[in-house]
Amino acid sequence: MEIKMRTLLSFLVFLSFTALLQSQALAAKKSYVVYLGGHYPNTNEEAVVNSHHDLLGSILKSKEKAKSAIFYSYTKEINGFAATMEEAEANELSKHPSVVSVFPNRLHKLHTTHSWEFMGLEKSGQIPSDSLLKKARFGEDVIIGHLDTGVWPESRSFKDFGMDPIPSRWKGVCDNGVDKTFHCNNKLIGARFFNKGYNASGSDLSLVTDSPRDVEGHGSHTLSTSGGSFVPDANYFGYAKGVAHGGSPRARVAAYKVCWPDPGGFGGCTDADLLAAYDFALHDGVDVLSLSLGGTPWPYSEDSIAIGSFHAVKKGITVVMSAGNSGPLFGSATNLAPWIFTVAASTLDRQFPAYLLFNGTRVQGATFSSGLPSKKPYLMINAEDAKAANATKFQASLCMLNSLVPEKVKGKIVVCQGQAFNYLSQGSVVKKAGGAGMVIANNEADGDYIEADAHYLPAIHITYKDGLKLYSYLNSTKMPTGYILCGRTSFGKKPSPVMATFSSLGPNVISPGILKPDITAPGVDVLAAFSEDKYVASTGMRMFPYQFLSGTSMSCPHITGVVGLLKTLNPWWSPAMIKSAIMTTATVLDNTHKVMQDGLSGKATPFSYGAGHVNPSGAMDPGLVYDITPKDYFDFMCSYGYNSTVMKIFTHEYSCKSSKPIKDEELNYPSITIPSITDTRTVTRTLTNVGPPSIYKAYVKPPKGISVTVEPSELEFQKFGEEKTFKVSMEPNQPETTEDYVFGTLVWSDGKHHVGSPLVASIKKQ
Ligand SMILES: *[C@@H]1O[C@H](CO)[C@@H](O)[C@H](O)[C@H]1NC(C)=O
Ligand SMILES: *[C@@H]1O[C@H](CO)[C@@H](O)[C@H](O)[C@H]1NC(C)=O
Ligand SMILES: *[C@@H]1O[C@H](CO)[C@@H](O)[C@H](O)[C@H]1NC(C)=O
Ligand SMILES: *[C@@H]1O[C@H](CO)[C@@H](O)[C@H](O)[C@H]1NC(C)=O
Ligand SMILES: *[C@@H]1O[C@H](CO)[C@@H](O)[C@H](O)[C@H]1NC(C)=O
Repeated sequence: MEIKMRTLLSFLVFLSFTALLQSQALAAKKSYVVYLGGHYPNTNEEAVVNSHHDLLGSILKSKEKAKSAIFYSYTKEINGFAATMEEAEANELSKHPSVVSVFPNRLHKLHTTHSWEFMGLEKSGQIPSDSLLKKARFGEDVIIGHLDTGVWPESRSFKDFGMDPIPSRWKGVCDNGVDKTFHCNNKLIGARFFNKGYNASGSDLSLVTDSPRDVEGHGSHTLSTSGGSFVPDANYFGYAKGVAHGGSPRARVAAYKVCWPDPGGFGGCTDADLLAAYDFALHDGVDVLSLSLGGTPWPYSEDSIAIGSFHAVKKGITVVMSAGNSGPLFGSATNLAPWIFTVAASTLDRQFPAYLLFNGTRVQGATFSSGLPSKKPYLMINAEDAKAANATKFQASLCMLNSLVPEKVKGKIVVCQGQAFNYLSQGSVVKKAGGAGMVIANNEADGDYIEADAHYLPAIHITYKDGLKLYSYLNSTKMPTGYILCGRTSFGKKPSPVMATFSSLGPNVISPGILKPDITAPGVDVLAAFSEDKYVASTGMRMFPYQFLSGTSMSCPHITGVVGLLKTLNPWWSPAMIKSAIMTTATVLDNTHKVMQDGLSGKATPFSYGAGHVNPSGAMDPGLVYDITPKDYFDFMCSYGYNSTVMKIFTHEYSCKSSKPIKDEELNYPSITIPSITDTRTVTRTLTNVGPPSIYKAYVKPPKGISVTVEPSELEFQKFGEEKTFKVSMEPNQPETTEDYVFGTLVWSDGKHHVGSPLVASIKKQ
């Protein structure tokens, strides 16, 4: 008996040991992206695929194994493949002379705050005025592609009423996969889906399908913001009225679904799928690419987004991306390569005001919720004072799940500390506990950032300062009472725009001499088309064809729309010229004529807004632009120490040997950043005239502690297309004790055009 037991025991041990071994072996095999640079001219796809099998086969010692390990071969514009292999094999492969880089198939995240809202349709305050739209023929010649969560093709924003047939240059398709109800038209001209990389990433696949249909809403929202058709009035609750449309309402749009949901809410988009989508989109013929997503910054040669975007820009395609929602943390901006157009988020001048009345005071907050049932004051309670026995004060103050005692909150207005991006669930906790209403009071870090939400009960979101007043009233009064008044949409809010506190900040952690983000655009409470899939309801959201969202995900497509208009007006402009036109005409002032605020009661800097807030009508007529060629970007890469072997592969047209490396600050960027100055530093810039003949003078507002000289300080342009070069020198004029960044401005003006650039510098500590 004893022996038997032992045998059984050792058998069990053996079993679990082999299981362990097997799971280790499984865990050791991961998916990787192998990047081989560009293609040689005139290579056929079959030969490329075969070369990938040979290359991996040489490492795995079997071409057959290589064939089954490779799940993508990038054969069109980008050369490389994605495959599952062991780490040791990936290491060996990375040493192969024809390989630029091998990197893990990482997950990237969407840049929305998940503060989902409902409402009717209206005209967003910041998209270009109608006359301007007319001038650029509503972006009718442009094709905009999005790499996102797909599209809800039935949305009214993608109707093709009155649109011409699809241009013959379009090589894309409408690949609806298993979803035979999904159709494209003359507006939505292409759709594809990419899930092999996600399938290989070890994520939960229960919500993955072979279809480009958007079940999450993010992709439909961003795509309709950049290129959505005109959609007539359908206001809701009377909060907003008007016509909804994208920045380039007559543009053609194409959806590349690369991001997938996860039942736990942890979905994302993998490098392998992103590169596959770039490879197709570049080949299909998009003019502008928009990506509202990102991950941790990596060196450019190991970053699928930097690589894909480099190939896009080389083809003349502008790539617009979101900067991220990790503010107000310095150095949190992502999508940092200089060939990417990186967008921060700020508020609109529109607001959805509501008022909180208490102790004879009236403070303004924001909401989309309905009002309180009766017109009398309600008892108020600090959520902390309604703490459940088994919850901590901290949990109760945040109104976390099951942290409140129903008897204490019943029929009252409950005051909760705001928990960023969780405002809706805080409301559902209060409602479940029997509260009549809710006040969300910001903590210090969230400052003045308030957002209108479609709460489950009458509720209002108030600033940190107002929250202090409220808490001190609650602390000093036995039976505090108050009332929430719900308002209507109002315009002309002052000050606005204000930077969103969630918007990610510079400096650039990969290229400190390139300012990021580049620009800011509306990204708070943006109304756009949404998915009507049942998945939306399963996440606890309310179902509406149009929803309000916030995030740099939402500001990014505003810029994409403006790029579409510029591209229609000036088809020959390079991505760098388009970006320059938008950056140099941006404004740093708000509607009170002061420098924009940062949402935390301070002045914002170029680290939050880049060159400033987009000014579409200015961008149509910039006067002068700073151009950058693909060769310049290549020389910039050479300065990163990628040796000539690697760079030759990266792009076969150039070689670092025959070129002079361009340092960050020397790239012909529309902003100038020089970190760690010790003594005089001089950089060169070249301007191209895209306006009438004119004489421009330089005006400088130097950064604090720095003397700036511009040489020459006057430039005469006699011809359209003429180029002129100038030098900017920065010299510290006082010893510094800190290495904090300082900010100034350079403006070239002929009286009519104002070509502005932020000057950013830090003085090396003595
Ligand atoms: C990815 O996984 C999903 C869910 O298992 C499946 O429906 C789909 O066919 C897979 N895609 C590929 C390309 O294997
Ligand atoms: C407190 O206990 C109740 C009942 O057991 C439970 O449902 C709830 O989740 C607990 N709350 C916390 C915050 O742990
Ligand atoms: C209110 O009282 C709590 C302690 O109960 C304290 O932590 C908080 O700082 C007080 N707030 C104000 C604004 O006085
Ligand atoms: C409430 O209002 C009264 C009258 O204006 C004022 O004296 C008092 O300081 C206020 N209480 C608090 C806590 O703000
Ligand atoms: C260039 O880099 C590759 C890969 O890092 C390395 O194998 C090669 O020896 C380097 N060549 C030179 C000339 O430094």
